[in-house]
Amino acid sequence: MTVESVKPEAPLAPELREPPRAGGGVPVLGHGWKLVRDPLAFMSRLRDHGDVVRLKLGPKTVYAVTTPALTGALALSSDFIIAGPLWESLEGLLGKEGVATANGPRHRRQRRTIQPAFRLDAIPAYGPIMEEEAHALTERWQPGETVDCTSESFRVAVRIAARCLLRGDFMDERAERLCVALATVFRGMYRRMVVPLGPLYNLPLPANREFNRALADLHLLVDEIVAERRASGQKPDDLLTALLEAKDENGDPIGEQEIHDQVVAILTPGSETVASTIMWLLHMLAEHPEHADRVRDEVQAVTGGRPVAFADVRELRHTNNVVVESMRLSPAVWILTRRAVRDTELGGYRIPAGADIVYSPYAIQRDAKSYERNLEFDPDRWLPERVKAIPKHAMSPFSTGNRKCPSDHFSMAQLTLITAALATKYRFEQVSGSNDSTRVGITLRPHDLRVRPVAR
Ligand code: HEM
Repeated sequence: MTVESVKPEAPLAPELREPPRAGGGVPVLGHGWKLVRDPLAFMSRLRDHGDVVRLKLGPKTVYAVTTPALTGALALSSDFIIAGPLWESLEGLLGKEGVATANGPRHRRQRRTIQPAFRLDAIPAYGPIMEEEAHALTERWQPGETVDCTSESFRVAVRIAARCLLRGDFMDERAERLCVALATVFRGMYRRMVVPLGPLYNLPLPANREFNRALADLHLLVDEIVAERRASGQKPDDLLTALLEAKDENGDPIGEQEIHDQVVAILTPGSETVASTIMWLLHMLAEHPEHADRVRDEVQAVTGGRPVAFADVRELRHTNNVVVESMRLSPAVWILTRRAVRDTELGGYRIPAGADIVYSPYAIQRDAKSYERNLEFDPDRWLPERVKAIPKHAMSPFSTGNRKCPSDHFSMAQLTLITAALATKYRFEQVSGSNDSTRVGITLRPHDLRVRPVAR
C-alpha cells in the first residue's frame, strides 16, 4: 500500500458542474475526425467552448483543458498521473520501467537518480561537447549546398544527448546508429498511435520491417552501451553511472530491465524534441533574416568575432529570447495527457476517476487571450519589462510540476549555442522542394525542411 492510496478522499462539493461538450462532434466518431484531420486547429479552438470541455472520441469521453491557469493546476495536482493513450502506446514500444512513464514512488526515486545530471551546476561540464557539436554542424555544411534539416537536426540532438549523458569514446559511432534508429522509430510510433491497425503492423511489409529493425537496433544499442560500460570497469561521473549504481526502494540495485528502459526513456524524448526545435529554429532563421541578423550582431558583440563558446550562452539574451519565441509558436511537444486517479475537480468542473485529460501547449502558447499579436514572431516579448504581461503557465514548453522535463537547462543551453553558431556563420534560404508545412507527429516539426546556407 502506498501513501497515495490511503490519502483520504475529500468529498466533492455537490455544486460541481459537468464541463460543457465541445461543438462539432459527429455521430459515432464524435470529435475524433476533427482531431485526426486538423488537430492543431481543433485544439486551438476549444477555448471558445469553455475552460474545460468534454470531447467524444468514438465511445470515449475525454476532457480538454484550455486555459493556462488550469493546465498549471492539472500539472501540479496529485489527482492526475501520467497515463492515457499517448503513454500506453509509448510504453508498448519503449518499455514500461523508464522515468517518463512511471508514477508514484518509483517515479520519485527515478527522478532523484537522474536529476543530478541535469542540474544547472552540472551543465557547464557538457559545454565542450555542446560547443564541438554546434561548430561541427556548421562545418559539415558547404555554402550553396542543400541541407536536409531533418537528418542534420536529429544527428546533432542525438549526438549531444548521447555524448554528454552516456559519455564514452565509443559514443561517436553509436550516436550515428542511434540517430538512424530513433528517426525511424518515431515515424512508425506516430503512425501506430493515430492509425491503430493492430495486427496489420505485424504483416511483413517493407515499412513494418524497417520499423521493427529500427526498434530492435535501438534496444540492442542500449544493451551494448550498458554492457560495454560495465565491461570497462569505469565509472565516469555521468548519467549512465548514476543509473548503474541506482538502488530501488529497498536499497537493492535496480534490475536490468529498469536500467535499459531508463536509458531509452531519456534518449528518446531527448532527441526528437531537441531535433524538432532545431528544425523550427532553422526555419525561423531562413524566414526572418532580420532576426537572424540580430542574433549574429549579438554574438559578434559578445565574442568580438571568435567562435561562440558555451561560456557565452548566458550573455546571449536576445538569442535566448529568439529560441523561446520559436518554441512558443512551434513547440515540439504539442499535446500532453493525464489521467484522474480519483473523482476530482478542475476549474469548478467535476472530473471522474479514470478520466483522460488532454491539453495542448501549442494552443495555450498561441492563444490571443494570453499574447498580444499572438501569431507574430516577436522575441522582444520576453524582455523583462514585457514578460510580466504574460499569464502564468501560458508558456510552459517543458511542462511544470513533478513531470516537468528534467532537461530544461540542458536543452536551452544547447539550443541557444546552436542558434548562435548557425546565425553567425550563415544566412539561410529555403530551397525549392523544401516543405515547411507543419507535420503533426509525436512532436511538431516541418515536413521536410531543406535550406541552403549562404556564407556571411
Ligand atoms: C519530459 C519537453 C528535451 C528528457 C518532458 C515534458 C515535456 C518535455 C513537455 C513533460 C511531459 C508531461 O508533462 O507529460 C521537452 C522539450 C525539449 C526536451 C520541449 C527540448 C526542446 C529533453 C531532453 C531530454 C529530455 C534533451 C533528455 C536528454 C525528458 C524526460 C522526461 C521529459 C526523461 C520525463 C520526465 C518525467 O516524467 O518525470 N519533456 N523536453 N527532454 N523529458 Fe523533455
